[in-house]
Amino acid sequence: MHPSPTIDYERPALTAEVQAADPLHADPVIATVPALNNKGDVAGLIAAMRAIAPMAGTVAGWGPVECLAAMRDLGLIIGSVKRHGPEPLNLAPELVPVLQLLGERTDMVPRDTILHYTVWNPAGPRQRMYTDDQQEGHLQESVRIVFPDLQKALGRLEGLSDLAPADALFAVHLGEVAELLQPTVESMALVSRHVTPAFFAHGLRPYLEAARIDGVDYFGPAAAQLPMWLVDKALWANDHNDTEYEEFLLNLVPYSLPRWRRMHANLAGGPSLAGRVVAAFGPDPERAPIAVRNSAAALVRALRVVVMFRGRHLGIARQVYELDDTYTEGSGGGSVDLLRQILNLTKENARLSGRPTEPGSATRPPAQRSAGQG
Ligand code: HEM
Repeated sequence: MHPSPTIDYERPALTAEVQAADPLHADPVIATVPALNNKGDVAGLIAAMRAIAPMAGTVAGWGPVECLAAMRDLGLIIGSVKRHGPEPLNLAPELVPVLQLLGERTDMVPRDTILHYTVWNPAGPRQRMYTDDQQEGHLQESVRIVFPDLQKALGRLEGLSDLAPADALFAVHLGEVAELLQPTVESMALVSRHVTPAFFAHGLRPYLEAARIDGVDYFGPAAAQLPMWLVDKALWANDHNDTEYEEFLLNLVPYSLPRWRRMHANLAGGPSLAGRVVAAFGPDPERAPIAVRNSAAALVRALRVVVMFRGRHLGIARQVYELDDTYTEGSGGGSVDLLRQILNLTKENARLSGRPTEPGSATRPPAQRSAGQG
């Protein structure tokens, strides 16, 4: 067992370094993957994976940058083989310990995640892709443009646990969260503009299947792994969630970065920001201090951005899954019905949180209720 080092995933240069890294000298081999996929050449894909596979001893000497880049490249071939049917690691079992070591040394799952496939994947001629269709590149870009600000938003949300809703800074930081979440909405516009439902359904979705590694099925690099679930947890879901969404998000936790897994653990059992803002209103919302009203307004702004993202995302997902009923679930283990449910929960919490702040409103603060009801 190798100790997993503490890695600063927020070090500004990390992303560019991983994108630039090619520790497996895989550039020429990876460039052949779309052609091998077009031919359904499983033997060729396995040979490609063996050609770039590192020795465990080599991995043990690597830092996080090399490990992340190596996982990115092996992961692309794992998803490719799985797309054509076989379990990739049954055909190349000698790679299991290497994947496990890469996972350990980066404190992540022993498979590539959405971050390997998008954020740590270089744009341009070295971009790792399953297909030779530029629509795939647009989808990768649509995730890349979300992640840096999403990461900052989570940092702000984490910091809010030390501030009271009556503190003027609470509204300021929540307002920043609303801004930082805005790229999720832009991302949906990018997808609508450049990606057809048919390409996602037939061209890409089959590459995002789970693969078995040492007896455990690991999801393919699905965008559902982006920690929007953690944004929800902090904003409203920590004390308002329903069981189906909770179950779905718990399956996604292992695919996030160590810091976000820790934040999730730290939030457990505590109130959400919505719960705290509601409590701060006290029994007479009319008399609530202005800072508390501002905090509620900022909370609603942030929730509305999430609602906008989810409304557009649901529209896209519905089109794709209506087109083809081969898959009853998305690549992250959920369904379009679940997406609708999550959207409704978010809307409901935005509506409840907003009530006390409506100008001239004499309504009571939002009740603490199970969002699954009614
Ligand atoms: C054609 C493009 C897309 C389709 C068809 C699609 C479809 C889906 C489906 C069916 C789910 C349900 C859960 C699952 O994955 O199993 C889902 C979840 C999710 N997707 Fe997408 N997706 C697309 C693009 C994106 C993009 C570009 C992003 C982000 C930039 C994204 C972010 C998410 C998130 C965060 C979830 C988790 C549920 C939530 O937070 O609402 N998706 N997607």
